[in-house]
Amino acid sequence: MAGKSKFQAIRGTRDLLPPATALWNRVEETARAVFLTFGFGEIRPPIFESTELFARAVGGETDIVSKEMYTFSEQMDAPPASPGADTPAAGVAGSSLSLRPEATASVCRAYIEHGMAQLPQPVKLYYLGPMFRRERPQKGRYRQFYQIGAEVLGGSDAPAIDAEVIEMVMEFFGRLELPGVQLDINSIGHAAPNCRRGYVAALRSALEKVKDQLGADSQRRIETNPLRVLDSKLAHEQPIIQALPRISDHLCDDCKAHYAAVERELELRGVPYQENWRLVRGLDYYMRTTFEITAAGLGSQNAVCGGGRYDGLVELLGGPPTKGIGFAIGEDRLILSLEARERSLAPAGPVSVYIAWMGERAQSAAQRAAKTLRAAGFSVELPPAEQKLGKALERASKLNSRYALILGDNEVADGLWTVKTLADGSQQKLTEPELRDFLGRARG
Ligand code: HAM
Repeated sequence: MAGKSKFQAIRGTRDLLPPATALWNRVEETARAVFLTFGFGEIRPPIFESTELFARAVGGETDIVSKEMYTFSEQMDAPPASPGADTPAAGVAGSSLSLRPEATASVCRAYIEHGMAQLPQPVKLYYLGPMFRRERPQKGRYRQFYQIGAEVLGGSDAPAIDAEVIEMVMEFFGRLELPGVQLDINSIGHAAPNCRRGYVAALRSALEKVKDQLGADSQRRIETNPLRVLDSKLAHEQPIIQALPRISDHLCDDCKAHYAAVERELELRGVPYQENWRLVRGLDYYMRTTFEITAAGLGSQNAVCGGGRYDGLVELLGGPPTKGIGFAIGEDRLILSLEARERSLAPAGPVSVYIAWMGERAQSAAQRAAKTLRAAGFSVELPPAEQKLGKALERASKLNSRYALILGDNEVADGLWTVKTLADGSQQKLTEPELRDFLGRARG
């Protein structure tokens, strides 16, 4: 039963507990294994950075930066700002810091800071960890959530790179047998010199004409970011949006060719996709390829992965002109979608053994047995004090142990170990080597 205390996890945050964490670990191990085969190495950036980094990279007008960041100022006992500086530099007293709402900005900052442009290009990095956004909590949407992401920085903008990054996520989802996976792709053109500006202008003027039929959010976005109107889920806006100008009619020849080549490359790799001209994404750094992946069982928060190309972001942050593309998977949503299916599968994890020992001689035999079995990879429960047999078996089944090893002074004297299979109650006497064989077979 849930306990009541003065202290509870903050709204939008949660404790991840066993046994659920086993699935989190399996997901993360699978990500590492798959990403390694595509030549990615792990980066672990800090969890907070200067607010300015996110404002610049993600965009000051985006929801993420304008409404959702956890921002605080460095304490006044930090080193003082240098005399004459207008705004305090990051990390000094009074400077503004934010918990990361995403990690692409940090990875680009690190690429510049560590001179990674000098390494063989492209540099391929992946990361796992918590992100923070002050969103309205609901199923699949949290204020502390976890992402598994990857970025390819430097080198060329060959469409094969876009396709390979997408192939990698799809391979990962395939490995996990994620149900109902659907990949949507789009090209939003490029910002300069620029096919997107022309499109945004056409979109804005079309939106002005239907302004009074739109909701308050969309009306505001006509000015701030008209592309985001295409994201609207409001039912009454859908027919209006369907009639708006489409980016595909405004792409320049280079962007059109790039998009067509990405599609060809996906087909060559056998990655099924569907075009979605309304897929614009909520962060400012994207250009050309954008993509999103949805999965089953998630209700309205069904995007498990979002990504795209962001050539120019590294330069915007003060680095050399650099190509970039990447994605982030929402791990919480991925787990939600997997959980329903997992419940119907056999329990994963190591074969578990409960050692029911009784008597002094049995205790030392039990300790030795526990050590040997743990070294062989079995999960072993060794009660710290002697228990009556009935009590021990009751506890073993409460803990979902697969076997109970019954060890009394008689068993020790005979050199025979009694093994009980808890699922069906069957029982047999085995010598120590026979026991090892028996448990080894149980592991399969
Ligand atoms: P994003 O679309 O903002 O992109 O987030 C990626 C994924 O994180 C979403 O598709 C969703 O699964 C998950 N997510 C986002 N917010 C929440 C939340 N409040 N609760 C639970 N899950 C959430 C990015 O963050 C980009 N940095 C992706 C990227 C990397 N693009 C290029 N490289």
